[in-house]
Amino acid sequence: MPYKTIDPQDTKTAEVHALLLGAIAPRPIAFASTTDLDGNVNLSPFSFFNVFSAKPPILVFSPARRVRDNTSKHTLENILATKEVVINIANYDIVEQMSLASTEYDRGINEFIKSGLTPLASVLVAPPRVQEAPVAFECKVNDVISLGPEGGAGNLVICEVLLMHINEAILDENGKIDPYKLDGVARMGGDYYLRANGDCIFELPKPVKNRGVGVDQLPDYIRNSSILSGNNLARLGNTEVIPTAAEVEAFRQEPIVAYTLNKYKDDKARLKQELEILGKKLLEDNQVQAAWKVLLLSGNLG
Ligand SMILES: Cc1cc2nc3c(=O)[nH]c(=O)nc-3n(C[C@H](O)[C@H](O)[C@H](O)COP(=O)(O)O)c2cc1C
Repeated sequence: MPYKTIDPQDTKTAEVHALLLGAIAPRPIAFASTTDLDGNVNLSPFSFFNVFSAKPPILVFSPARRVRDNTSKHTLENILATKEVVINIANYDIVEQMSLASTEYDRGINEFIKSGLTPLASVLVAPPRVQEAPVAFECKVNDVISLGPEGGAGNLVICEVLLMHINEAILDENGKIDPYKLDGVARMGGDYYLRANGDCIFELPKPVKNRGVGVDQLPDYIRNSSILSGNNLARLGNTEVIPTAAEVEAFRQEPIVAYTLNKYKDDKARLKQELEILGKKLLEDNQVQAAWKVLLLSGNLG
């Protein structure tokens, strides 16, 4: 497989920047409101952002020095002066307003006004929050770590959440955030965004409680199957208990299995292939034990 290998030391910063942003995607977005010492309000989005700790609750984002002229962002200057920020979460309903707020307006210009968003007074910090945002975090800034003096250098703003505001409209009946109701957005490379909704969202239970056998324990003919993908193998490998020989044999009576065994009884190679296809389908329907039985049956054919 051909790979393009890049040494960032020999590559223009703008190109490294574009490649990093293309590859580290999708990225969540901190829509940060800050104030200067005179109380002027600023609002800007930052996708170098994530959560890093729950106790204490810590969010980190990074306003970088501009690659173009090595100047720093108003957000960073305000934070260094006041040590406060509100991190708002933008969703699809306000994605264009959030993008507009990223315009490089002059110092002192209030992007709440430019983007048509509504400032709502915070409880514990001076910067207002965005009323339309589904979630807002009032934060104090514990530390700012500069990552370098040149254009492109980030500044890690380490924020401790003092108060969270969650719009009840995005909560499910158990008080948890419903990912579909959140309708979140994330930044990708170039001008691309991701809308986290519909088919984009899928569930993959965490393998925290069980300890699966692992892909290395699968029989060779399953591991080397040209029909099963790496994801299929991982789902099989996440199983703790493999069906017994008796269970596998009993599965011959299952209508779809019996039908397949009968239909291809005179062509063993085709039969094995059809059983693997059936196994794959069962895996993708999350019927993992049934998939195991079908795949082991195919191995029993010799
Ligand atoms: C979705 C999105 C994400 C962005 N992420 C970052 C980022 O992580 N770091 C950064 O320095 N600039 C980022 N920008 C650009 C800033 O928002 C932009 O430079 C803004 O004008 C800075 O405003 P300020 O000088 O008022 O702080 C992003 C822009 C958009 C639209």
